[in-house]
Amino acid sequence: MARPPEIRITHDSQAWATAAAELVHSLGREAIRANDRFLIALSGGSTPEALYRALTSPAFADRFDWSRATFFFSDERGVTPDDPRSNYALANNTLFTPLNISPAQVYRMAGESRDPQAAAHEYEQQLRHATNTPPSTRPTLDLVLLGLGEDGHTASLFPRSPALQDNQSLIAVTQSPKDPPTRLTMTLGAINRASVILFLVTGAGKAGIVRAILDPKTEAERQLPASLVAPEEGRLIWLLDRAAAAELPTHQQRTST
Ligand code: 6PG
Repeated sequence: MARPPEIRITHDSQAWATAAAELVHSLGREAIRANDRFLIALSGGSTPEALYRALTSPAFADRFDWSRATFFFSDERGVTPDDPRSNYALANNTLFTPLNISPAQVYRMAGESRDPQAAAHEYEQQLRHATNTPPSTRPTLDLVLLGLGEDGHTASLFPRSPALQDNQSLIAVTQSPKDPPTRLTMTLGAINRASVILFLVTGAGKAGIVRAILDPKTEAERQLPASLVAPEEGRLIWLLDRAAAAELPTHQQRTST
């Protein structure tokens, strides 16, 4: 039985970035204490940038042993790694490079591939190899970061996407209504195995969809991709700023920092 989500709400976006960085550090330390390494999947979209900048800021940069970390991606767009729309490009420019993360620690999805299905399969092999996961089981990442689209999509799992029913693959190819169309994404089977899933969501533009996911009123809302994110054994944390939490019912609206 999935645990209820932990909802953390910060007063503003600055407090949100600080809370996000502290949460990644504390979850990372827990993983390193337990397994001597930290397996983290980064989210796409623009919201993570504030987290990356906080993690590389003087307040945080030297407070964590990033040499124990292995980085994966929850999804990637069908573009080259230097394209400004690339999720890898954002992480590389605002996190890996400032922290001197070795390329050997980073597993990038080949969004630029002319054969996305082969790229998805290749990434699944890399994910299994890097996590020592035998073919019959699914890897348990320590932390999976996710964003939320206004249509209820997360990673590159869009409403009505056939990949939502895919319980065989760890990585799937999907078509996005948003540019760029072709995407590589972790499936729910890969995401829901994680020890901790952390939704990073900010801004008034997301208030309606946050309410729909965390306080659903209809079956359609319960079937939105982000609603299907439910860790099998792990924790589900939502880190929101007050603007994104504005439409939540009062009992879910207690600010934490
Ligand atoms: C992507 C994402 C996607 C993103 C949401 C929110 O590659 O587009 O993984 O799921 O997280 O669309 O995007 P913003 O953070 O830019 O609002």
